[in-house]
Amino acid sequence: MSSEGNPPSGTLPRAPRHQRLYVNIDHVATLRQARRGAFPDPVQAARWCEDAGADGITVHLREDRRHIQDADVETLSGTVRSYLNLEIACTDEMLAIALRLKPQQVTIVPERREEVTTEGGLDVQRDPVQLRRTIDALNAAGIRTALFIDADMTAVRVSHELGAAAIELHTGRYAHHAFDRAPLQSLIDAAHEGARIGLAVHAGHGLSVSNVAAVAAIEPIEELNIGHALIGRSILIGISGAIHELRAVMSAARSTI
Ligand code: PXP
Repeated sequence: MSSEGNPPSGTLPRAPRHQRLYVNIDHVATLRQARRGAFPDPVQAARWCEDAGADGITVHLREDRRHIQDADVETLSGTVRSYLNLEIACTDEMLAIALRLKPQQVTIVPERREEVTTEGGLDVQRDPVQLRRTIDALNAAGIRTALFIDADMTAVRVSHELGAAAIELHTGRYAHHAFDRAPLQSLIDAAHEGARIGLAVHAGHGLSVSNVAAVAAIEPIEELNIGHALIGRSILIGISGAIHELRAVMSAARSTI
């Protein structure tokens, strides 16, 4: 979808009962990068996610390009028919890419090269000048901007002061301690505070079919970003079909000898 087709935030599907599911396809690219080839193709995965009802596609272009590559984002920005949410660190390099490709949404995330995955939320008070400059530039380009933060009241309010349209609450602490009430309560409180002050509220990280229900039930959370567990589950669920497909080709070949 071209930037001309960008909907203003207010026109995103927002039926009270419909929570948007954005599928993070980074780990399709992780598998591809294991062989440095072209398969499996995240662009094809995005298309199949959309066909299966995903409301949007999320990719994280990391500084070290460990999974998603520049060419993927370039192609996806022209082929995603729903909404493309590009996760980036707050750097000049990433801002320039976002402004050139104009995804419908950018989520600013913290990034450390040595981390396995995005381990915590943005420290929105560490360099507010740089963050504001980035958010202003994205807003001016008509790109909806979200900040990936911990479920922390100060972070919620500062995100609003910095001019973000949305926050994405980091659900990792909840996901890793799903039987502990405190992280869930923090998400509930932060979500309500965000909505009260006019922010759109998203959430994600570590969510799966076994822990998503409690987060999905937090009323102000209008969008979930889910990747690793969903792609992992797809591999498991898809294994028998892939074996049958391969076995059929092998059997057909053997029948000719
Ligand atoms: N949201 C953000 C901002 C992320 O950085 C990630 C991980 O890349 C996710 C959501 C998805 O997390 P997971 O892959 O654990 O579902």
